[in-house]
Amino acid sequence: MKRTEIVVLDNAAALAREAAHRIAAAIRTAVAARGTCMLALAGGNTPRTVHRELTLVEDLRWSHVHVFWSDERCVPPSDPRSNFRMAKETLLDVVPVPPDHIHRIRGEDKPEAAAAAYDALLRMRLGRAPHFDLVLLGMGEDGHVASLFLGHAALEERVKLAVAVTGPGIDPSRVTLTYAALDAAETAMLVVSGAAKAAPVGEVLGRADSVLPAARLEPRGSLVWLLDRAATGLQ
Ligand code: 6PG
Repeated sequence: MKRTEIVVLDNAAALAREAAHRIAAAIRTAVAARGTCMLALAGGNTPRTVHRELTLVEDLRWSHVHVFWSDERCVPPSDPRSNFRMAKETLLDVVPVPPDHIHRIRGEDKPEAAAAAYDALLRMRLGRAPHFDLVLLGMGEDGHVASLFLGHAALEERVKLAVAVTGPGIDPSRVTLTYAALDAAETAMLVVSGAAKAAPVGEVLGRADSVLPAARLEPRGSLVWLLDRAATGLQ
């Protein structure tokens, strides 16, 4: 059964510092316990400041960390829209994660092929009971997490760990982790900033019957919401 923690920080800068502090702690805990940390990064823009704060944390054993992504746009890795490119620029070009520990989703391939390949990679890397030590997520203004959009069939997938997300209104197509992968995480941590997210935050955290994708997360361990005050609607 998941344990839910909700933390509100004064502003976006404090939010980024707290998120970096918690990511570092999760890395240290996992490496101390098992000699490795399986970390899935979020896409979008919010992680940029979190990554920069994370590069300032000293004595993290990055050589023991494996990096994955919770979703990817189906674009080449050099494309400005690529979640891999964003993480490379803001984190992976700065900290010494070994190149063979960086497991990007191949956005340049056809969505279904990229999703199938990532599912296989996750099962190979995460083992028989695949789970991440920490999955980082953002939330869209429509309450989506990763690329799990309300009403899309991907929300119902409970076997595959990664699927393609295509169809009307989804441009570019995406590859996303499914709830099967997200809920297997020891900790899922949402980092949500800004007034534009106050409405979905209020629904997901305020209504037990919310059907928004963010409301459906059930990680086997902890669910952590890191919010700035603007994202709570409390000014
Ligand atoms: C993506 C993300 C997506 C993102 C949210 C929040 O590929 O866009 O995975 O789920 O986390 O849309 O995005 P922002 O951080 O840019 O608000």
